[in-house]
Amino acid sequence: MSRWSPALRIKNIQPPVIRMGGQRARDLAEQGVDVIDLGPSSPHYVTPKHIIDAGVKALYDGLTNHAPALGIPEFKTALAEKLSAHNHLHADPENGIMVVPGSQQGLYYAVNAYVGPGDEVLLVEPVWGSFRQQVELAEATPVSVSLSAEEEYHLSYEALEECATAWTKLLIFNNPQNPTGRVYTRAELEDVARFAQDRDLLVLCDETYEYFVYDSNEHISLASLPGMWERTVTSFTFNKSYGMSGWRLGCMVAPGELLDPMTRVQEYTASFVAPFIQMAGVAALRGPQDHVQQWRDECRELRLQVADMFNAIPGVHCPITEGTTFLFPRFPGGETSTELAERLLNEALVTVTPGSGFGDSGEGHLRVSLMRSPVERVLEGVERITKVLNG
Ligand SMILES: Cc1ncc(COP(=O)(O)O)c(C=O)c1O
Repeated sequence: MSRWSPALRIKNIQPPVIRMGGQRARDLAEQGVDVIDLGPSSPHYVTPKHIIDAGVKALYDGLTNHAPALGIPEFKTALAEKLSAHNHLHADPENGIMVVPGSQQGLYYAVNAYVGPGDEVLLVEPVWGSFRQQVELAEATPVSVSLSAEEEYHLSYEALEECATAWTKLLIFNNPQNPTGRVYTRAELEDVARFAQDRDLLVLCDETYEYFVYDSNEHISLASLPGMWERTVTSFTFNKSYGMSGWRLGCMVAPGELLDPMTRVQEYTASFVAPFIQMAGVAALRGPQDHVQQWRDECRELRLQVADMFNAIPGVHCPITEGTTFLFPRFPGGETSTELAERLLNEALVTVTPGSGFGDSGEGHLRVSLMRSPVERVLEGVERITKVLNG
């Protein structure tokens, strides 16, 4: 153990929940054991060829050095067009878009730039674990707005208002939501917007799963609602929609004056995103989009099949998610979700993510990733889980 104790702000930081079973799964795999991975959200599919080709071409074209902190003009222009057409967000490509090395990094810039000791940050729970840890890293106080499975994770003005205090400064919101799979309705988003305006809050809205929305549900960008553009920082990523989780590419979108303090953090940390990666991003936005449709269709069908399989297990309740690439079934019994996940790794040789990693209201659930492994493997994994749980 080192004789230098870590800084106080690191004290409460937990390792990512998806790492919980990861090491044991890797150890087993190294011993030749066939483990099926239904844990992390990162997709199994590789980046489409035209995107890879554009990145490689940019390297050979000499884009190997520095780039501006906010991003290169070609990429920001392509992003502005997509945001306008798809999200009804009219961002100024000059100063209203900040290219970041993955949305997680961009979210950290926002949290770091805007909150600190004494500030409270509202998190809609069950919540993606990174939000809480990033608030802790900034030495601000996370406050959970707990939604319940019984009420199908419905979000209301009253639920938000109940958790707000004079110290609330920021609301972190995720739509479609990891891990519940909720896609918030326009009425719910209007409640969020009214609440944020009544309380004069800044909102950080993570729209990672914008293209993974099913049936009659509709993805609406919160910042497109009246009165929200000026108080919302929205994050987007190329991780899921373009199979680019390893490239580290995303963007933060807001009025220039909101992005400005975040730019300071990027300038003194990551500096910028490599320009050849941004050129791959241009190809992703401007090139064929059929892969997104194909992955979405695959996930839409798979979630129905897998939900049926879970719901056939006595005592298990698995709602059909409205969006994202997950299912979030609830399990009966005295085991914690961590114990259950460990048992499934040991007995079924399947990794899943324990619901407690998404806050107290996630306890009793497991998050099952539908895109981490190919379809046949996902189905085999759920069959193995079924066998173990049916004894
Ligand atoms: C809600 C949410 N936001 C952000 C991310 C991370 O995205 P990126 O790879 O762009 O950092 C993830 C998962 O990968 C996620 O589930």
